[in-house]
Amino acid sequence: MSWPRSWWRTLALAVLIVVIVPGATTSTLLGHTPGHAVDHETLNATMLHVLRVVKQCLVPFEHSAAASDVQPHTVHKPWKPPYPEPPPSSVELCAQRGFQCERHLVHTADGYVLALIHVVGRRGAPRAGGLPPVLVQHGMLMSSDAYLLRKDDGNLPLFLSDAGYDVWVGNYRGNAVSPHVHAKMTPDMFEFWNFSWHEMGLHDLPAMIDHVLERTGAPDLFYIGHSMGSTGLMVLLSSRPEYNGKVRLASFLAPVAFVSTLRSRLFRQLSAVAPAIKAFLLAHGIWNVLPRSAALHRFADVLCLFPGVGETVCNPVLFEIGGRSPENVFPYYMPMIAAYLPSGTTIRIMEHYYEVARTGKFRPLGYGTGDPNPGPEYNISAITAPVALYYSENDYFVHPPDVDRLAAELPNLFHKFKVPDASFNHFDFLLARNAKHLLYTEVLAVMRLKEVEGDDNHLRPLKTPGGLLDYLLRNT
Ligand SMILES: *[C@@H]1O[C@H](CO)[C@@H](O)[C@H](O)[C@H]1NC(C)=O
Ligand SMILES: *[C@@H]1O[C@H](CO)[C@@H](O)[C@H](O)[C@H]1NC(C)=O
Ligand SMILES: *[C@@H]1O[C@H](CO)[C@@H](O)[C@H](O)[C@H]1NC(C)=O
Repeated sequence: MSWPRSWWRTLALAVLIVVIVPGATTSTLLGHTPGHAVDHETLNATMLHVLRVVKQCLVPFEHSAAASDVQPHTVHKPWKPPYPEPPPSSVELCAQRGFQCERHLVHTADGYVLALIHVVGRRGAPRAGGLPPVLVQHGMLMSSDAYLLRKDDGNLPLFLSDAGYDVWVGNYRGNAVSPHVHAKMTPDMFEFWNFSWHEMGLHDLPAMIDHVLERTGAPDLFYIGHSMGSTGLMVLLSSRPEYNGKVRLASFLAPVAFVSTLRSRLFRQLSAVAPAIKAFLLAHGIWNVLPRSAALHRFADVLCLFPGVGETVCNPVLFEIGGRSPENVFPYYMPMIAAYLPSGTTIRIMEHYYEVARTGKFRPLGYGTGDPNPGPEYNISAITAPVALYYSENDYFVHPPDVDRLAAELPNLFHKFKVPDASFNHFDFLLARNAKHLLYTEVLAVMRLKEVEGDDNHLRPLKTPGGLLDYLLRNT
């Protein structure tokens, strides 16, 4: 049987009410009685209730209903998702945008398999320039698709490819693009998902960096990492200093090393019950948290485009996480965001960030509840590769004072740039309609400078608070 679109909308709305009402109860419970212990019975009941709905959204694309289950109805117009399910892959996204991309499989030293996307260039037109390789790495719950989904000129990898760089877009282990394959383990084992950005930094990034250097013959590469893409590289460069020589310049978009302030109310509330959430996820075997799912895509697509609902429900959920400024994103990206952005994360990844925020220390995560000493902090003074930091005022994850602290501790800070738009949020580094104008041109100009300048630092762009591009335009 097939349901017309309006039925889906009604259903989605009904489900929403069923989710939101208990959700609001939880929120009231947690938000307005700070001095009181959380009522665990109510919390459990609420969470079990939400779980029933969430479980529907956790069915990955591979296991979604076969297309034959939704045969077009003869009377009603069949409901058609705007993207076939599963949505186009990174390579297909490239092709739709006129570019040729290739998928490479990379094996890590600890047995995982990663998908690395190589942007070869525009189809039928060889890439001009012959500039060095760039590895672009995604953040938490994201994948290479999050960079490649944009159709306008704000697509960072394709922008860099057009500028002449040899662009590679990485994928961490376990996300929706990397195959869930391991030399010894299978994804139905807890051990497969027993990793955080510590392991990603120690094993995934060196595997991808070495693969790119081997394939291109280049001595070093440019690195661009958003959020957890920056955290991973800081883990690598501080723990295995020999990799500093392989990174010509690390550009960090919304860098996460220190978390002094949780500006998202949602995260503050969730962190108040973090141990309960962890126990809950473990108890229910939810090891791949928020994977890419057909139901979530369909749910969000129908619901978020429903007049009034997008603004009152979908946007607040997303922007309560990253920073409140939905007007920065083209509205028609919302269904794509639902289709692509949740790409899976693990309990340990969330726990590791939670511990960084709780302790104020950027250090490995201990094992077991009674572990009082998780090991020494990551040695930021060992990060000798040049680093450029890009951050913004309205980022709910990355508080400007935390960036100042990181900048003060990095021994080789090359550039520090606050995006000149007070509304720019954590997701805007990828999604903002004006990201190219506000950010990517600056990132590119700083990379070009590093390329020309080599090790001679007399032209350090740090002296240009107004933006390097402006500076170059004025002075050259
Ligand atoms: C709530 O759930 C947790 C884990 O699922 C369980 O250990 C605990 O006993 C439950 N509490 C109540 C009051 O049901
Ligand atoms: C998770 O990984 C850590 C370190 O690799 C190990 O000490 C721990 O026993 C693992 N836990 C499980 C349940 O496999
Ligand atoms: C951190 O790295 C610096 C530079 O490599 C080194 O001098 C220092 O001894 C390291 N500190 C620790 C605690 O390992």
